Amino acid sequence: MSRERWTVLDLLRWTTDYFERSGIETARLDAELLLAHALGSDRMRLYVEHEKPVLEAERGRFRELVQRRAGERVPVSLLLGEREFWSLPFRVTSDVLTPRPETETLVEAVLSKVPDVAEPLRILDLGTGSGAIALSLASELPQAGITATDLSAPALQIAAENADHLHTRERIRFLHGDLFEPVANERFDLIVSNPPYVARSDAASLPPELSHEPEMALFAGADGLDVIRRLVAGAGDHLSPGGWLLIEHSPEQVERVEQELERAGFAGLERRFDLARRPRVVMARWQAE
Ligand SMILES: C[S@@+](CC[C@H](N)C(=O)[O-])C[C@H]1O[C@@H](n2cnc3c(N)ncnc32)[C@H](O)[C@@H]1O
Repeated sequence: MSRERWTVLDLLRWTTDYFERSGIETARLDAELLLAHALGSDRMRLYVEHEKPVLEAERGRFRELVQRRAGERVPVSLLLGEREFWSLPFRVTSDVLTPRPETETLVEAVLSKVPDVAEPLRILDLGTGSGAIALSLASELPQAGITATDLSAPALQIAAENADHLHTRERIRFLHGDLFEPVANERFDLIVSNPPYVARSDAASLPPELSHEPEMALFAGADGLDVIRRLVAGAGDHLSPGGWLLIEHSPEQVERVEQELERAGFAGLERRFDLARRPRVVMARWQAE
């Protein structure tokens, strides 16, 4: 990027090519998002500003973002400090997992188990991270009482800030602790969780971007099922009779998650599929009592 005059389009072309050569799959999209951010603009506006010259100070800001993206493989969401989920803006930092599109499958699954949105349901989002699931549910279910927990205190802080920003703070209880420990003796109508589910043995083959996300949000023992096993084993003590447990998992884990649920006494198991049509969520009903 050493010449004198650069337009928006020149920078987009140069950066897309550079990102492609660096092995970034979403090269053009990333270039657009980062340039829009550096210019204080948005992606759509860039299209009508293709011929606009970019000032040296703006190029300096952009250059730094481009270097961090290609060199350190920092995810775009962290460079922008924001990611959209369920059409809502979430602030993200390196303390939280960036919410993923496949987790919207989990939100849809929860809503499919709520016949009447006016019901005052008690919902637990276990491992809330940025608050993506809890806050999306709060936006859809105005009468629900929502509890969001996490083992990471810094993550809970971000989730609470996001709730402030989305004006749902007063409807959500944020509690710190391991799995069900912060809700001892409490029962819920729905328990929803996108727990860590990556196997330790997969760490070396993961995309480099994941090294910028919190380990606690990703890894769960040798086979990736350590947290899910504990979650399933404990959930019955915290569900009302007929309540639902909904868990996100990796597509390869679906049978093992179902076995754990059946062994723990759950029934009525249903699968949900993500946009790539892979099994991504299992829903199970608590029949006991
Ligand atoms: C995969 S992330 C999901 C974050 C968010 N719910 C989402 O879907 O974007 C898993 C979250 O669970 C939290 N976590 C991991 N182990 C936990 C535990 N034993 N108890 C409570 N939360 C835990 C992590 O800190 C992280 O925020």
